[in-house]
Amino acid sequence: TPRKDNPLYALLEQAAAYYRQQLRQHPQRQRAVGYLKGRGLSGQIAKLYDLGLAPPGWNNLMSHLARDTSEEKALVEAGLVVENADSGGRYDRFRDRIMFPIRDSRGRVIGFGGRVLGDEKPKYLNSPETTVFHKGQELYGLFEAKQQNRQLEDILVVEGYMDVIALAQHGVTNAVATLGTATSEDHLKRLFRLVHSVVFCFDGDRAGRQAAWRALNAALPILEDGRHVRFLFLPDGQDPDSMIREEGTDAFRRRMSRDAQPLTDYLFRHLAEEAGADSLEGKAHMAALALPLIEQVPGSLLRRLLRQSLQQQTGVDLDEVVPASLPEQPPS
Ligand code: CTP
Ligand code: MN
Ligand code: MN
Ligand code: MN
Ligand code: MN
Repeated sequence: TPRKDNPLYALLEQAAAYYRQQLRQHPQRQRAVGYLKGRGLSGQIAKLYDLGLAPPGWNNLMSHLARDTSEEKALVEAGLVVENADSGGRYDRFRDRIMFPIRDSRGRVIGFGGRVLGDEKPKYLNSPETTVFHKGQELYGLFEAKQQNRQLEDILVVEGYMDVIALAQHGVTNAVATLGTATSEDHLKRLFRLVHSVVFCFDGDRAGRQAAWRALNAALPILEDGRHVRFLFLPDGQDPDSMIREEGTDAFRRRMSRDAQPLTDYLFRHLAEEAGADSLEGKAHMAALALPLIEQVPGSLLRRLLRQSLQQQTGVDLDEVVPASLPEQPPS
């Protein structure tokens, strides 16, 4: 079936409407509203991102949206209802959670993220892959960013739903998040159809630094001349949400313009550190690590500059280099 005819879109839209309504009408809505207020969000921003509430209970959404078995099965297809493989029993996937509708870039609801209101695990639950929801391609907040900006200049890529929304609350309306997956080449191709410049700003922790290095690797093969990728590393323990709430919009923007490093600086710095490039052995190792990465860059001018820079930094004749690679998980 062509995507536009897929009946799941209408169902997902109805589910978003239901969750939205529950955040406004459910007898226990005050707890959810208090949670969102406690995280610094206004009603206006909750409305813009169409936040909702999945009430506690096993079949609220199901009894609201399905009249018979075939409609229940459609909810299973949409990822909203879970079917027990053994018993065949069906129940709401999202229960007692703040709901974040995930839209495609045209604004159609394609899935949801749901956050617990407390410390229970898992903290976030996401829709499974369905015929309309492909996590490796979609970016949370892209539709809303386009809505808020007539012309996007650059895009900030962050890790989480709340990072996107907290940034928007503070006037930084150009953030998107990968959906709990690594940044893919597909994600980046999509972004570079809209802007020339992408800034990654992941959490200041080990997982965030690993995500940054993986994002660099995803970006190399699409780095045409004229495309800019930068990385902003946050202090330990901070994420974009906590950072902008702590220091405010102006300081956050100053931090971006002061501290965001071009991809190429990050690449050389990281490899120099990994290789221990203050010794001759390290320089040789750095050349062997950097060369195969540089060779992936399609932009011929940038590639030539990178080769020149590597040659200057290491003193190695690059024609003699035998390529090497880092282990999958970088130690830092
Ligand atoms: N994530 C997920 N499932 C989890 C934990 C995280 O899908 N169990 C995804 C979510 O998209 C989340 C993102 O990874 O937003 C980043 O995770 P994390 O930094 O742990 O969460 P925060 O977004 O900072 O969540 P919060 O501020 O609400 O605690
Ligand atoms: Mn231009
Ligand atoms: Mn994190
Ligand atoms: Mn957070
Ligand atoms: Mn985080």
